[in-house]
Amino acid sequence: MKIAVIGGTGLIGSQVVKILNAGGHDAVPHSPASGLDLLSGRGLPEALSGADVVLNLTNSPTFDDASPAFFQTTMDNLLAAAKEAGVGHAIVLSIVGAELLPDLVYYRAKVLQEDILKAGPVPYSIVRATQFFEFVDSVLSWTADENTVRLPQTPIQPMASADVAQAVADVAVGAPLLGTRNVAGPEVFTLDELGRITLAAKGDKRTVVVDDTAGLFAAVHGDAIIAKEGAVIAKTSYRDWLAAR
Ligand SMILES: NC(=O)c1ccc[n+]([C@@H]2O[C@H](COP(=O)([O-])OP(=O)(O)OC[C@H]3O[C@@H](n4cnc5c(N)ncnc54)[C@H](OP(=O)(O)O)[C@@H]3O)[C@@H](O)[C@H]2O)c1
Repeated sequence: MKIAVIGGTGLIGSQVVKILNAGGHDAVPHSPASGLDLLSGRGLPEALSGADVVLNLTNSPTFDDASPAFFQTTMDNLLAAAKEAGVGHAIVLSIVGAELLPDLVYYRAKVLQEDILKAGPVPYSIVRATQFFEFVDSVLSWTADENTVRLPQTPIQPMASADVAQAVADVAVGAPLLGTRNVAGPEVFTLDELGRITLAAKGDKRTVVVDDTAGLFAAVHGDAIIAKEGAVIAKTSYRDWLAAR
């Protein structure tokens, strides 16, 4: 299969390209550096020419009020070009529970991205993943100072980006789901617990202080971002992943 991977230089995209090519497919990574800008549409017709499948693994440069416009424009451009090129399957990567967090603009923007795909002219699949292990360091840095890291007790079920990439690649080589596949990590933690495990693994002596108002995930209530029934549960555990780092 010829598969155009937009965002193919990113954390997930680069791993998806490797998995697909190792499986005998012709997966081509695209990004602004290779001449494809999904915001302007530059390079899209060339990238999609002859493609059976297109994966959109781009991300908005910011998680703020600019993110809905990014996902709106990029999806409009993608679907118009995919229809024109006769692409048979379009896939986006979204976030487990995104619709349950309407107060967070980035999550709203991801739901908008999904809705545009669902309403569009190209057979589609949505893969929803939980938070990537690789994202945990950034989450800790948002509310850290020299001595402490403040974190809420939000339940979180993170997963390895390698497992996300495998799930995306599996969907890419199948028939369009015309629906959503949820994937999640094998364990649920509270975010403060995840912070303690992470700091201990690095020998970081800072203390985790529970603060249910700290950071983006303070706005997450209950089990909103935990795997839903029917989710595919990935194998890699956080502690094993930390140990192999
Ligand atoms: N972080 C999480 O825990 C999490 C959880 C679930 C789902 N997701 C979703 O996973 C997706 C991929 O995330 P990621 O961490 O792999 O992203 P990433 O590492 O930031 O990679 C983003 C990719 O998009 C490309 N890109 C950015 N703007 C573009 C544009 N205008 N036109 C074409 N390409 C563009 C980047 O190119 P450059 O090489 O130029 O940067 C890069 O290849 C995101 O949509 C995110 O919402 C994330």
